[in-house]
Amino acid sequence: MSKPVRKAVLPVAGLGTRFLPATKAVPKEMLTIVDRPALQHVVEEAREAGIEHFVFVTGRNKAAIEDHFDMTYELEDTLRKRGKQKELDSLLADLPAAGATSFTRQQAPLGLGHAIWCAREIVGDEPFAVLLPDMITMAGGRKSRCLAQCLDAYARHGGNIIAVEEVRPEETHQYGIVALGEDYGHSFEISGMVEKPKPGTAPSNLIISGRYVLQPEIFAVLEKIEKGAGGEIQLTDGMIALSKAQKFFGVRFDGRTYDTGSKLGFLVANLAFAMAREDLAPALQAEIRKLVG
Ligand code: UTP
Repeated sequence: MSKPVRKAVLPVAGLGTRFLPATKAVPKEMLTIVDRPALQHVVEEAREAGIEHFVFVTGRNKAAIEDHFDMTYELEDTLRKRGKQKELDSLLADLPAAGATSFTRQQAPLGLGHAIWCAREIVGDEPFAVLLPDMITMAGGRKSRCLAQCLDAYARHGGNIIAVEEVRPEETHQYGIVALGEDYGHSFEISGMVEKPKPGTAPSNLIISGRYVLQPEIFAVLEKIEKGAGGEIQLTDGMIALSKAQKFFGVRFDGRTYDTGSKLGFLVANLAFAMAREDLAPALQAEIRKLVG
């Protein structure tokens, strides 16, 4: 039987250059999708999937993230005194249990692979999940979000798991792409991976989309890996090296992913999450109608 996955690594040390000037002093992961930081949506997805410990790889100017996942004594006290029980309950429900978070720093943004490697001491010798916090997911017909679907596949196959999504063939050169081996329907064996293939050379149109389950052996691989695309230490390069010794499986995520690290993705995510809320959808729909004439 495969070892259980208890910990999740959330790399939040990137500079968010696609979102300047908003991200000059505010971490991009703290920009709100409706009424909660993007990162809170991702932590909720991990909690729903059964994750018990959250490892945040942060950097300079990211202190707001640590504060967000801590108690806010003055605020809670004021809400209590003013009888704002609903707001208080919602704050407390979001708060991770004491000791359920760890924060470590990536001293320089050397790439996603390097950020994950920075979590090695906290993760230790057990399989772990990775959630890229700028990808926000919404459940589809299976009713579970992306990490829960990855963990179902992990229970079935073991090994390493990568969530994938389809893009149009002309977009494949912007992403990490997987090649299909044996196909089981919702999941499949990965027979190869390539980071940002040249146009027309991608082995499929399935992109690596931001949720992973990885075995701890990835850390030793990442320690030795050379800089790849963009002069950064790439997680995909680490996974390609590990795939020579271990199996990787893909999960076709049933649901939708929004890339909140891009301006358009962020705006669409706000609309989609607001439209999914009964308290906001009717009024928002009316406003959109006015805007688009
Ligand atoms: P991105 O490349 O999307 O994030 O990395 P970025 O570098 O912040 O964004 P832009 O392109 O400059 O706008 C995906 C995730 O990996 C983290 C980012 O914080 C983001 O959540 N990351 C990336 C790190 O933690 N460290 C890095 O060195 C690079």
